[in-house]
Amino acid sequence: MLVTIGARIPALVASGVLNKFYRYEDLMLETEVFGIKFPNPVGLAAGFDKNAKLLHLLPAFGFGFIEVGAVTLRAQEGNPKPRLFHIGDKRALVNRMGFNNDGLGVIAQRLKKRKGSRAVGANIGKNKDTPTESAADDYALCMQKLHGIADYMVVNVSSPNTPGLRNLQQKAFLRKVLETAPTDSAIFVKISPELSGTTLDEIISVVQERPRTGIIATNTLKIEQGGVSGEPLREPSTDLIRWLYKKSHGKIPIIGVGGIFSGKNAYEKITAGASLVQLYTGLIYEGPGLVKRIKKDLVQLLKAGGFTNITQAIGTKA
Ligand SMILES: Cc1cc2nc3c(=O)[nH]c(=O)nc-3n(C[C@H](O)[C@H](O)[C@H](O)COP(=O)(O)O)c2cc1C
Repeated sequence: MLVTIGARIPALVASGVLNKFYRYEDLMLETEVFGIKFPNPVGLAAGFDKNAKLLHLLPAFGFGFIEVGAVTLRAQEGNPKPRLFHIGDKRALVNRMGFNNDGLGVIAQRLKKRKGSRAVGANIGKNKDTPTESAADDYALCMQKLHGIADYMVVNVSSPNTPGLRNLQQKAFLRKVLETAPTDSAIFVKISPELSGTTLDEIISVVQERPRTGIIATNTLKIEQGGVSGEPLREPSTDLIRWLYKKSHGKIPIIGVGGIFSGKNAYEKITAGASLVQLYTGLIYEGPGLVKRIKKDLVQLLKAGGFTNITQAIGTKA
């Protein structure tokens, strides 16, 4: 008992100090999606806290929500290192992590023990050695276990680093997976930036068949060995958000992610149709102070646009 308390004290102190530096709140930034409350719309994207080990610290950087994972049914090591690279003079990363994670059982236990009221999502993938024919079972088992533990769950069918995963973006597979999702859970389908035409139309229609279902746009841009995030992804992901918003007449909640380095970038995604945004690469290049800067700038941009809250701005430039 004493040992546990001893271990918690430094974490609490650290989180308190961070909170002093990074705290910035404004009622204009508060929002709600699928009945989940967010103190602000700026979240941490999947892949940073893959194993739900940092949940006691991350909210202190000012994120409105955190997404952990990707979680797979069984623990796996991912691809051999090196597997994360900077790209020359661009503010971009290439990663070919391959879903390295501690596995569903361990991560679910960590999520159960978490304290605090900040919304946490769980990003779900399939194991590398799970054949396509039984991939739906991986997602179903993960969703059942994480139901009630995570505030929302993400069907990640868009990582470029698990062979064949992106083929799961087809209608029949998505429908099957969404049908197995616990009925009252909030689910987001995370898609790749290269989708277009019929595939996107079909994703919109399948997502609309299930209540409490949204889309995360987007995952990384696929290259030969890995995925590109950051600046080169900004426009493709914003364009896709705008397209999704228009095609669905604003009916599908969208989490916008890809190349956010400023309040302006976040605002562009919101006015294109995103209800919430996330970032990862921006945090690596700009440091954790970025979250506070984005929130401050968002408030100024909302005021300049004549809005009194985030919801009013969503999709106004779609
Ligand atoms: C190192 C790394 C690991 C990632 N792992 C995941 C993952 O496990 N699941 C997922 O859906 N996206 C993952 N992503 C993608 C991010 O969540 C995000 O969609 C993408 O990086 C675009 O946002 P950004 O430009 O702000 O980084 C990862 C990205 C990076 C850089």
